[in-house]
Amino acid sequence: MILKALQTGVFISMAKPGMIIANENKSVMLKELTGNQLRFPPVFPNGGIMTLANSAVNVWSGQNTTVIAINGSYPCPSVVIQKGTQFTANFINQLTEPATIHWHGVSTPELMDGHPKDSIPPGGNYTYTFPVINRGGTYFYHSHADMATAKHVFKGFAGFFIVTDPAESGLGLPTGNFDIPLCIQDRRVADIPQFNYNPAMNDVMNGFLCDAPLINGTPDAYFEVSKTLYRFRLLNGSNARIYKIALSDGRPFHIIATDGGLKDQAVQATSFFLSPGERTEILVDFSSYNLGENVYLKSLQFAAPGSGTYVQGTDMNLLRFDITGSLSSGGIIPAVLPPINYYSISDIKTTRNFVLTMNMGGMNMHLINGLTFEMNRIDWETPLNSLEEWKIVNASNMLHPMHSHSKQFQVYSRNGNTNLAPEDKGWKDTVLINPFETVRLLVKFDDYKGTYLFHCHNLEHEDDGMMLNFNITDPIGINEISNTIPEDFKLFQNYPNPFNPSTKIKFAVPKADFVSLKIYDNSGKEIYSLAGQKLNPGTYSFDWNSADNSGNNVSSGVYFCKLISGNYMETIKMLLVR
Ligand code: C2O
Ligand code: CU
Ligand code: CU
Repeated sequence: MILKALQTGVFISMAKPGMIIANENKSVMLKELTGNQLRFPPVFPNGGIMTLANSAVNVWSGQNTTVIAINGSYPCPSVVIQKGTQFTANFINQLTEPATIHWHGVSTPELMDGHPKDSIPPGGNYTYTFPVINRGGTYFYHSHADMATAKHVFKGFAGFFIVTDPAESGLGLPTGNFDIPLCIQDRRVADIPQFNYNPAMNDVMNGFLCDAPLINGTPDAYFEVSKTLYRFRLLNGSNARIYKIALSDGRPFHIIATDGGLKDQAVQATSFFLSPGERTEILVDFSSYNLGENVYLKSLQFAAPGSGTYVQGTDMNLLRFDITGSLSSGGIIPAVLPPINYYSISDIKTTRNFVLTMNMGGMNMHLINGLTFEMNRIDWETPLNSLEEWKIVNASNMLHPMHSHSKQFQVYSRNGNTNLAPEDKGWKDTVLINPFETVRLLVKFDDYKGTYLFHCHNLEHEDDGMMLNFNITDPIGINEISNTIPEDFKLFQNYPNPFNPSTKIKFAVPKADFVSLKIYDNSGKEIYSLAGQKLNPGTYSFDWNSADNSGNNVSSGVYFCKLISGNYMETIKMLLVR
């Protein structure tokens, strides 16, 4: 029932040139159309083996293409997994170089994230396993090997990671054969049938752009549709190309989801930008077309920097929809979608600035804050559970789709404008920063501690070093004193007490759980809060320096500290004497 089209697996089928479109309306002339029926990668059986190897597939009819693929499939097999279940893949690296799998947009523990520092050596294997805690949505997995991500992905190492969510099932969205994942990539016509990857200077600068779109690995793709409503899950799996998605007749459709799943409302649009790494889901209604007609999903021309044979912004037909059937999907455009809690700028704890620059003639051309990626250097620390504002200033005449690992964020403004395009509004993990533009986003890492990446998802830029490491650390103020597992939850009396201006609050956590610590004044007003922090079993201490949540000093008096976790709650009384 979910994504039936994925399961039927029309995989690497042969071309059907000169196909005649069946036509129920005799007055319309029969059209002779060419192309290849849209393919779908097979579905990965959860818990199974993912073997990465060089293999040969038929992308163009009758010709072998050498790819780097998982289980011999280009695109790689699609993961389709329900939220709340455990994902497991036994990865075997049969390449002669290190490799790693990154689950793009998916929250995973550090050692499951596929960071290049955790690459699997040639011939090695590794079990990726983590609970799927993301919202339902269209995610992505791909290579993240050190300075080889672009080559691996170009040669085929990427696939869908689709999270299903029972919360979506009551909404009336099209399902089964009417819920269609579309991975958009581009390859070079001059190199057919190979995916040759040898970037020249200009390709490192602008990204490896090509002129032949492949949809789910299908060249000149067509897809036969019925006169009804469809859900399309668009993933830009290209190294560098940005698409301005539209229908060739300019007809409107509805945008229903961004990178991190459903938006809070369906928004009508006639075009949107989709940069590498981004996903956007749309509902397209074919009911007003006539049988025998066709319409293209295309990329519209747009102005962009760069010159040479391959440039951004070229007009391209991506996928032809042939209207051939009269089935009904029974799907609707939901009037309401599940709400999204938008972060409030008044809760920002830290603002970080990132400046993207171009360094012509340097060893590395694309820089973030003047830096180039270094595997073992941590560029900053972000505490868990703390809302941060990231202000990204693009000081270059280049397009940079910026991506953060570990957690979905929310775009706040573009050049100060908080009235966002529908593809920007919602949960995001990748955001396109146009030349000389400033984008502010809000992010709160509240899942896992560890080292994660922030980088440009133009894969040539990434491999060129446009990537930084950051460490997600213990929440501000809470320090683990001992990891000996205590028997009970306990909140100890603060020390010193009375105090001025700072006092130590100690507590014990017997099992991994969300713990919140709040301080109230004598009138019961909340002064300070460290809310909902997931802590491992152990003993912790927190130094309170008698300031409130906004950092203002509070006056002498009685204060109460309350520790809450599950059914447990304990309070201590503290006295501040200034
Ligand atoms: Cu999709 Cu770090 O990447
Ligand atoms: Cu990622
Ligand atoms: Cu870039």
